[in-house]
Amino acid sequence: MKRSPLPSYTDKQSFVQGMFDRISPKYDLVNRLMTFGLDQGWRREVVRRLDLGPGQKVLDVACGTGDFLKLLKASALDPTGVDLSFGMLKHNHSGVALVQGSAVNLPFKDASFSGLTCGFAIRNFTELKMVFAEFARVIKSEGRVGILEVATPKNALIRAGHSLYFNHVVPVIGGAMSDQSAYRYLPQSVEYLPSEVELQTMMSASGFSGFERVSVGLGAAQIIMATRS
Ligand SMILES: C[S@@+](CC[C@H](N)C(=O)[O-])C[C@H]1O[C@@H](n2cnc3c(N)ncnc32)[C@H](O)[C@@H]1O
Repeated sequence: MKRSPLPSYTDKQSFVQGMFDRISPKYDLVNRLMTFGLDQGWRREVVRRLDLGPGQKVLDVACGTGDFLKLLKASALDPTGVDLSFGMLKHNHSGVALVQGSAVNLPFKDASFSGLTCGFAIRNFTELKMVFAEFARVIKSEGRVGILEVATPKNALIRAGHSLYFNHVVPVIGGAMSDQSAYRYLPQSVEYLPSEVELQTMMSASGFSGFERVSVGLGAAQIIMATRS
């Protein structure tokens, strides 16, 4: 599979915004196919691990088409979604309050939420330290954060199969059904993903503690939970 260069730091936000605007109409369908329909189960696990009571306010950052928002609403929480892409927001099917904005500069007052979720978006952000500082700012003390992201399986055999699938099959499926360049970028964007230690270091520096990392999908995805100190 031909590799294209990843966008430069300064181009990344507009590149990502344009890409999600383009793939938004088919995003849900391709996502379900790519994860064999497992992705909603992983989101459900994040919501369960937030361990928040009914009516508590939760912000879903990079909410996309609304999969997390629907689960948060179904758990009797009070969700709000924010996303950079107008296209993804247009195809959002959650029926909850939505705001267009960037994770690096969240359009919400300090300590507005008891919890925050963020699915498959960390590697798309431009400045992760600023994003975690924003997460910490908008969450109340003792509030919970739950992050869902892709990962690289640790087992060598599973890693080999996953690499074949993620780097060669996903771009073909995504390209045929939606947008070729976007689904080539998807596996490459893993290069932006910090290690577990780097993520925890950044999040600790922003005021989070009590980290838990749970591997799901045979190690192809990860859940990171933390508490606002
Ligand atoms: C792979 S999609 C994930 C959508 C959704 N969270 C999910 O679990 O399906 C990544 C989302 O991140 C959004 N995004 C990327 N950069 C962003 C930023 N700086 N601020 C807010 N949203 C951003 C994109 O528009 C897109 O909707």
